[in-house]
Amino acid sequence: MTPDYALLARQLAALLDTRDWLTNSAQTAAFLMQELPEVNWVGFYLQREPEVLGLGPFQGKPACHPIPFAKGVCGAAARTRSTQRIDDVHAVADHIACDAASRAELVVPILVDDRLWGVLDLDSPVAGRFSEQDQAGIEALVGVFMARTELVELR
Ligand code: SME
Repeated sequence: MTPDYALLARQLAALLDTRDWLTNSAQTAAFLMQELPEVNWVGFYLQREPEVLGLGPFQGKPACHPIPFAKGVCGAAARTRSTQRIDDVHAVADHIACDAASRAELVVPILVDDRLWGVLDLDSPVAGRFSEQDQAGIEALVGVFMARTELVELR
């Protein structure tokens, strides 16, 4: 069953009561990990140097770092600046396997003006876990995070 994303958006907006990117990204990762079923990793990768994603606040097993824009599903989201929704990561040749249990993946880019600030990455152990409705709902939650947060340029 698709979660009630409108309710989750209101709850996330209430939770994000600072403008601080570090606090808000940590809270967002924890909130999504608690609220979304069948998800084994949620976190942010941040652009702190050109063309490279660095690991940011996350929930789940220790993860891969760094990820160049040229590689993996996260890299594809950063390069194309479009959401990547993958039903089965085993079918993606350059998928970066951080946790062998992960099967489905959703990566949403976070753009500030014309700059890629980072991406939000979600992994699931269930193939096909993320539907189009999940993509739209999670993109809306990223919108809440962006609206509630001062997305300063990272170094
Ligand atoms: N699977 C990702 C790497 C990040 S982990 O899933 C946390 C990718 O291919 O970009």
